Amino acid sequence: MSDKVFIFDTTLRDGEQSPGATMNLQEKVRLARQLEKLGVDIIEAGFPAASQGDFEAVQNIARAVKNCQVAGLARAVQRDIQTAWDAVKEAEDPRIHTFIATSDIHLEYKLRKTREQVLEMTKEAVSFASSLCPTVEFSAEDASRSDWDFLVQVVDVAIKAGAKVINIPDTVGYAQPQEFGRLIKYLLEKVPDSDKAIFSVHCHNDLGLAVANTLAAIEAGARQAEVTISGIGERAGNAALEEVIMALCVRKDYYNLDTNIVTEQIFPSCRLLSMIIGQPIPPYKPIVGANAFAHESGIHQDGVLKHRQTYEIMTPESIGKTSSDLVIGKHSGRHALKQKLDELGYTLEEEQINQVFAAVKRLADKKKQVYDEDVEAVVLEEIFRIPDKYELIYLYCTAISDDKASPSAALKMKVDGEEKQEATFGVGPIDAVFNTICRLTERNPKLLRYSVNAITGGTDAQGEVTVRLEENGVTAVGRAADADIIVASAKAYINALNRLAKKEREKRVNVE
Ligand code: KIV
Ligand code: ZN
Repeated sequence: MSDKVFIFDTTLRDGEQSPGATMNLQEKVRLARQLEKLGVDIIEAGFPAASQGDFEAVQNIARAVKNCQVAGLARAVQRDIQTAWDAVKEAEDPRIHTFIATSDIHLEYKLRKTREQVLEMTKEAVSFASSLCPTVEFSAEDASRSDWDFLVQVVDVAIKAGAKVINIPDTVGYAQPQEFGRLIKYLLEKVPDSDKAIFSVHCHNDLGLAVANTLAAIEAGARQAEVTISGIGERAGNAALEEVIMALCVRKDYYNLDTNIVTEQIFPSCRLLSMIIGQPIPPYKPIVGANAFAHESGIHQDGVLKHRQTYEIMTPESIGKTSSDLVIGKHSGRHALKQKLDELGYTLEEEQINQVFAAVKRLADKKKQVYDEDVEAVVLEEIFRIPDKYELIYLYCTAISDDKASPSAALKMKVDGEEKQEATFGVGPIDAVFNTICRLTERNPKLLRYSVNAITGGTDAQGEVTVRLEENGVTAVGRAADADIIVASAKAYINALNRLAKKEREKRVNVE
């Protein structure tokens, strides 16, 4: 059996199904490029038949990515498979990933099909996909709750019809590690041509076992792991790429397996995703959280000072967490910035570099030290923002609050290209700003979440604000960073409104 584990990243498909993790086209392409740099073998770019937006995202990623396979998901029906193929066919190395449920509960209540019908659909879908694409992956949805011998039959049919990869998902996060490992071993032993396909697993985290189940399956012989950056995904999420990879690396003595992952790109990838979806990495998150390498107890600190490995099983450097490199000061030139952008993985046009340079200079005037994270925030703000319906031109705010005065805000904005201004009060300065924006845009969304996070240390750190809004049943997340948290809050709110407006436009297009 091969000693290489293929890493199939589904951040852009299953990960994007995570609440509040929607990304626009540019953001998806940007993340796909980072995944390529991280060294994943396959990027599942989306579900092309789900919407025109999904189709375009998969097609653009297929065109942009050169060093890994690009997969499109499809239900086991011709129309989905054809659409998935149309979206991935321009990739250097395309893959169609088709799936059908195999558990009795799904057959009876969701599909209303018999086992014989599912076997037939599997055969037809995989044969059709194989007639279009050189690499076809077949997934037996809800495999962990399926009858093991029926699963043997389905997998056998899929391999005979041309599937090169067989994926066994724990769709509802129900499996237990030893049991899941036994299932993989059973399939490898009982499926007649199991050596003609790579066995893969796709584990959800409902019981917090996604990584444990993935590792148990790998130990039992699975050679593809389906994972997401930071474990984002449907409900409680998927197996986290960084946790699976670092377990394989740190315990190489135990697993003795290799992957193509460049571990030093792990932290930059998690950080980029966090910036794009506007959700901070929780401090307690294994591998990449702010506390992952922080030693609080005196005994631990003493031990680490004497010999790092007393309490550290891996180094921050091994996951690309360098100690906040100082990058750009007031007097740094454009060349230094360009070099830093290259290092951070941003390949920008000359005009875009000028735009980032001007913004970094403005920031360096307000803030003593500009770190990698600050530069990334500027790039996302200046370059990867969605085209705006609403734009902030000017903001003035007073925070005074006593029995005579209330906090107030005066704003000038562009709404559909037209300049407008307005001022009003609020119970606090942020409330005043948000109220004024609502008046100017004539919108009245519900604020579901508001959070502020310092991007780096220091009292002059940029504040990264995330807001989540809901209006007419549509939700959107907005994110922005600025050295002034009131400005960051206004920009994040406006960013969320722009995303709401974009979603409404897309909804209208889908209806038309
Ligand atoms: O969880 C699941 O079963 C899936 C399949 C489509 C692979 O996401
Ligand atoms: Zn899934």
